[in-house]
Amino acid sequence: MRGYKRLAGRQLSVVSGGSPVTLASVNINIKRKVGDKLIRNKIICGDSIDVLRSMPDKSIDLVVTSPPYFNARDYSLWPTFAEYMADMQAVFEGVYRTLKNHRYVVVNVGDVISKGTVEPKWAKRKYALGAHFTVMLEEIGFTFVDDYIWDKGEPQSKRHLGNPPYPFYQYPVNCYEHIIVFVKHELDKTKIPCPVCNEIITQSNSQTTAGVQSWECKNPDCPQKSASGRGKRFSARSVMMDEYKRPENEISEEFIAKWRRDIVRINPVKKINSKGENVLGHTAPFPEDIPEMAIRYFSGVGDVVLDPFVGSGTTAIVAAKNDRDYIGIDISEEYCELARKRVEDVVNKDKGEHKHHIKTAK
Ligand SMILES: C[S@@+](CC[C@H](N)C(=O)[O-])C[C@H]1O[C@@H](n2cnc3c(N)ncnc32)[C@H](O)[C@@H]1O
Repeated sequence: MRGYKRLAGRQLSVVSGGSPVTLASVNINIKRKVGDKLIRNKIICGDSIDVLRSMPDKSIDLVVTSPPYFNARDYSLWPTFAEYMADMQAVFEGVYRTLKNHRYVVVNVGDVISKGTVEPKWAKRKYALGAHFTVMLEEIGFTFVDDYIWDKGEPQSKRHLGNPPYPFYQYPVNCYEHIIVFVKHELDKTKIPCPVCNEIITQSNSQTTAGVQSWECKNPDCPQKSASGRGKRFSARSVMMDEYKRPENEISEEFIAKWRRDIVRINPVKKINSKGENVLGHTAPFPEDIPEMAIRYFSGVGDVVLDPFVGSGTTAIVAAKNDRDYIGIDISEEYCELARKRVEDVVNKDKGEHKHHIKTAK
């Protein structure tokens, strides 16, 4: 495995409320797990690499996130691209361990023009982050499923419009981001009972999908047989999928139509008002549509949705609106407070309209 090696004593600089602070001075307030019990419906302030270490194996049903973009925003500055990728790899290794088998991770990431903070200092170039994350997630062990292109619409930017009309001066304004979808399929040959007769008189034959062991029921008394007399064929994944076929998990035709194609037009979040002020309090929130697709397509009511870079809390808000539990992590105390407040507002506002089965908790 190639991978990125994480450097000890990294010098990530985090900007909180406009003033730069070092990682060491960030108030890390990690709630430790109690035994093997997963703490739900919390926004946890800390470095995701450390917070994930405190969480039990295979306890999360779905991960939805948008990582900090390499040196494109004030709150995330790394000395080199390799150090940035090493940190991202460390976070997603934690994600892999804590995610249940056959579950999904959905990552929104854009290809960015950014600059290093060491020699050649501030030299700009474009980074194909979507491609780097795709390779990194595969190397960790995830299986690629899809790459939706989020079409952000007409670019408002006037950048480089006045460039001289000659070769080498022209390039497009970026108006899309990736929404990459991966699944964890860890091959598990442990025998499981037939979902029809509940007997473990099963025989392994093949893998339905790479990493998904399939079984055939060999119980002569099992009531379900194929036309040719073969026993029921199933896998841990098909048994799980059958369990989700409940009315509360049904997805509307309208919603499926919206996400039918893998290029989807969604307006970005309007965060700047007419006076040029950021009214949301975060520089890079994603639209609710992204976690909404991930949550409805890859989880069910009552599941636990994790966002290791929760920012202003969008994933947690959408999880709550869809009757899922959430865990949000962010390194910035300021963003954690913002996320807690936004989730609380949504849950309080929607009380009565929806019956949320969850409570917010600090
Ligand atoms: C692109 S923003 C996420 C925005 C979020 N999707 C929203 O809708 O508000 C990335 C976030 O990652 C956080 N972050 C950066 N490094 C982190 C780390 N090591 N652990 C936890 N959070 C981190 C930043 O503070 C920032 O809020």
